Amino acid sequence: MILGVGIDLVEVGRIRDSLERLGERFARRFLLPSEYDYCFGHPDPSTHVAARFAAKEAVSKAFGTGIGGEIGWLDIEVVRSELGSTSVQLHGAGRVLFERRSALAVHLNLTHTAQHAVAVAVLEGGAP
Ligand SMILES: CC(C)(COP(=O)(O)OP(=O)(O)OC[C@H]1O[C@@H](n2cnc3c(N)ncnc32)[C@H](O)[C@@H]1OP(=O)(O)O)[C@@H](O)C(=O)NCCC(=O)NCCS
Repeated sequence: MILGVGIDLVEVGRIRDSLERLGERFARRFLLPSEYDYCFGHPDPSTHVAARFAAKEAVSKAFGTGIGGEIGWLDIEVVRSELGSTSVQLHGAGRVLFERRSALAVHLNLTHTAQHAVAVAVLEGGAP
């Protein structure tokens, strides 16, 4: 049973501007260390950072909460397999929300161009 679907679109240029203006401080506000290392392992991290920003918003929308009250940026970790597929690891309040909803899994996929990053998330639960 699908409990929720979330989608988000982020303009890469806005993320690039914020990274140039605020640097590491900006990225560390919403990226966990593994995400930070992955993104900043690229010559231009902006697209990858934008995709992770979109991912976290998409997951929060799948829960129906948005980011801030019940789930924060650092409660959602985007995990990347060696083949490039993504999954979600929830921490802290994210884990609590997941269990409160009796969810079974969060599915996530990302795409990006030089201009835009898009993420789609699906929150899966058990039989109704
Ligand atoms: C829900 C949230 C993710 C929406 O994100 P947004 O970037 O403001 O808006 P988007 O254009 O991506 O999405 C808007 C749509 O999301 C949907 N939406 C709004 N609240 C939602 C919720 N709680 N759950 C699921 N979907 C929601 C609506 O359909 C809305 O469109 P509508 O107003 O025309 O109906 C937002 O409330 C949020 O938590 N944003 C965090 C942003 C933030 O903290 N930014 C700081 C930058 S460091």
